[in-house]
Amino acid sequence: MKNNISCDYSHVEAFSDPSSVRQDIVQSAQTLMDGSGAGAAFRGWLTLPEQYDREEDARIRAVAQNIREDADVFVVIGIGGSYLGARGAIEALKGTFYNELSPQKRQGPQIFFAGNNLSGTYLRDILTLLENKSVYVNVISKSGTTLEPAVAFRLITKELAVRYSADELRKRIIVTTDATSGALKDLADKKGYETFVVPDDIGGRYSVLTAVGRLPLAVAGIDIEAMMRGARDAMKLYDAPYEENPCYHYAAARTALYRAGYKIEIFTQFEPAWHYFAEWWKQLFGESEGKEHKGLYPSSLDFTTDLHSLGQYVQEGERHLFKTILHIEETKDAVVVPDDGEHDDGLENLSGKSFDVLNTAAQQGTLIAHADGAVPQIVLSLPQQDAYYLGQLFFFFEKACAVSAYALGVNPFDQPGVEAYKKNMFRLLGI
Ligand code: PA5
Repeated sequence: MKNNISCDYSHVEAFSDPSSVRQDIVQSAQTLMDGSGAGAAFRGWLTLPEQYDREEDARIRAVAQNIREDADVFVVIGIGGSYLGARGAIEALKGTFYNELSPQKRQGPQIFFAGNNLSGTYLRDILTLLENKSVYVNVISKSGTTLEPAVAFRLITKELAVRYSADELRKRIIVTTDATSGALKDLADKKGYETFVVPDDIGGRYSVLTAVGRLPLAVAGIDIEAMMRGARDAMKLYDAPYEENPCYHYAAARTALYRAGYKIEIFTQFEPAWHYFAEWWKQLFGESEGKEHKGLYPSSLDFTTDLHSLGQYVQEGERHLFKTILHIEETKDAVVVPDDGEHDDGLENLSGKSFDVLNTAAQQGTLIAHADGAVPQIVLSLPQQDAYYLGQLFFFFEKACAVSAYALGVNPFDQPGVEAYKKNMFRLLGI
C-alpha cells in the first residue's frame, strides 16, 4: 500500500492546541462541502480530479506531444494562478536546471514564463531567447483581460508573426481561457487558435490541475495522468471525518497558531527545485485568506540557503511566526562528498558521505534549533517527489486553504484587494 502525505505536530503542541479549533474546522469543512459558504460557485476544483473533461485531456496530450517534438522553446504567458502552479510543478519535478540541459537530456523544449510582470527588460530578454528557435506559445488567462499577459502576448505574437505564416502561427499559439467569453476567447475563435478551458467554477489559484497546469506539465514530459490519480486519491483521503483527515488537521494546526498570536506562516524546504512550488503556495493562501484585515501572512524560505540570511530572524527575531516544513522522504540523488585529501578544513570526516546525509542532518539540526528558539513547526512529509504525490499535495493545500479561510470568516475564492493597484495603474495609463 502506498504511503500518503502526513504531518507531525509534535513541535506545535507547546504553543497552541489544535483541538481548541476542532469544532470550527469541522463546521468550515461542512460549509465547503455543502456549498453554503461565500464563493460557493467556485468549488469546481473539489471534484475536478474525478470530473475533468477526458476529451480535452486527450487533446492536451496530443498538443503537448506535438510541441515536444517540434518546439525548441515553449513560452507560457500568464500571471498569478495562471502560471505559478505549472512553474512550481515543472521545477520541482524536472529540476532547477531543466532549461539548461542539452535537448537530448531534456527530451522536450525549453520552457520560459512571460506575462508575469511589466518589465520591458525581462521581455526583451525572453525575445532574445526565442531567436532562431522553433517557438510555441501558451497564453493563459481566465478573464482574458489581465494586463501583464495581454501585453506580453501582443509582443511575442508580433515577433512570431514576422517569421511564421498565419497558418503556421495558428499551430503554434495555444490559448487557455474561459470556455465561452472574454477578449482572449474571442481572439482565439477569430484566429482559429487551439483553445483549452479554465472552468467557470474554478478560480486562478485553484486551477493548477485544469488545462492551466496540465498542458505546460505535459509539454515538460510530466505524467499528468499520475498527477490526476494522486489528486483523485487525495479527494477521497481528505473527505474523511475530522479525526482521520490530515488535511483538516493541518487547517486546524495553522488556525490554532494564528489565534494564539502567530501571524506568519513560513513554508520551508531543503530542495531548491521546490522554490516555485512555495510561490504557488503563497499565492494560494495569501489571496484566499488575506482579507478584512485578517489572515496569516504566507512566506517562504529556501534552506539551507536562507539559513545564512533570514535564519537569524527565524531563530531570534519576534516570536510571531511558525514554519511548515516540506520534508521529502525519498531523495533520488546519491551525490557523495569526495575524498581528495587536499582540504585541511576540519571536514575530512564528511568524505564519502552522501549530500543526502548532510541535508538530512541540516534539517534535523534546524528543527532542533528552531524548537529551542520557540518557533512552532509543522513537518509535512511527502513520500516521493513525483507527479502522483504532487497531485496529492496540490489538492491537500487547496482544500486545507479553503477550510482555513472559512474558519477565518472570509471568502476563500475572491480577491477584491487585487483590484486596487489596477485601478490606479489604469487611471495613470488613461485606460
Ligand atoms: O487566483 C486568481 O484568481 C488570480 O491570481 C488570477 O489567477 C490572476 O490574477 C490571473 O488572472 P487571469 O487568469 O484572469 O489572467
